[in-house]
Amino acid sequence: MDIIEEIKRLKKEKNAIILTHCYQECEIDEVSDFVGDSLYLSRMAANTNADIIVFAGVYFMAQSAKILSPEKKVLLPNMHSGCLMADMIDVENLRKFKALHPNIPVVCYINSTAEVKAESDICVTSSNAVSVVKSLNEPKVLFVPDTYLGKWVEYKLKNVEVITYNGYCPTHLRITPEDMIKARKEHPNALILAHPECHNEVSKLADFVGSTKEIMEYAKKSDNKEFIIATEKGVVQRLNRDSKLNNWGKDFILIKESVICPNMKQNSLADIYNVLLTESNEITIDETVRLKAKNCIEKMLTVKI
Ligand code: 13P
Ligand code: SF4
Repeated sequence: MDIIEEIKRLKKEKNAIILTHCYQECEIDEVSDFVGDSLYLSRMAANTNADIIVFAGVYFMAQSAKILSPEKKVLLPNMHSGCLMADMIDVENLRKFKALHPNIPVVCYINSTAEVKAESDICVTSSNAVSVVKSLNEPKVLFVPDTYLGKWVEYKLKNVEVITYNGYCPTHLRITPEDMIKARKEHPNALILAHPECHNEVSKLADFVGSTKEIMEYAKKSDNKEFIIATEKGVVQRLNRDSKLNNWGKDFILIKESVICPNMKQNSLADIYNVLLTESNEITIDETVRLKAKNCIEKMLTVKI
């Protein structure tokens, strides 16, 4: 059986689409309708006419698709594909955090559960966090769960105090300032592009800090020929693939071989085929929670960036 052809056939038969995050194994792109970062994929999930969405990403991303498109069947290829950062905060901890800092709006990174979104005021992704917090016009905000993205927003805005929860991404925290200094020395002509989930001392040493898609767009547009990428390996693989396919003559180097999100790599083509065939691993969310979480995401989607 040619698994790629079978997936394509099932997609057509069932009016399904496959949304794929850039940290997935590259071979999944071949069967995907849209490949991108979390903001782009949530927009695609909100706009599709498909009956089934297969979300090749982590659990919170599939949940976000379901929050925005409740009438659609949303399937996660592998239920073990969760985000370690999203799992660092639950509703109980969020309530305790709010009680410690009362009457301050809660900004919630999209890397969080539906329940946490439901108890937050507005959602952000790494693409729009700075613009969304700015749009609130508040002197202080609470930011959950990623302390580094929250502190990056504070650093960029200067006039907003961002009180952060102590969550983090173990994959991005593997990158150290020493790695950045070493990369700079070894590749003096390269530009270093980093994701804001990195430690703030790492982000400050980068030439550009942005979400997955922003990094990819920056690299594509830049006249530079060599880049060090300080984010997940899947981004580097896609950039090198696209450079070869389109004759960009650009070289992309992963800052460190271990910058791999093991959970993102759980989904395989076989899992995608299985969930499409059996319509298993369906995401379900309590309707009261969903409506509140939807409000939190939709507020974000109305902010112009
Ligand atoms: P993006 O918003 O850049 O897709 O990031 C999601 C993520 O989980 C990064 O680790
Ligand atoms: Fe979560 Fe980090 Fe993996 Fe992104 S890279 S999905 S934040 S664990």
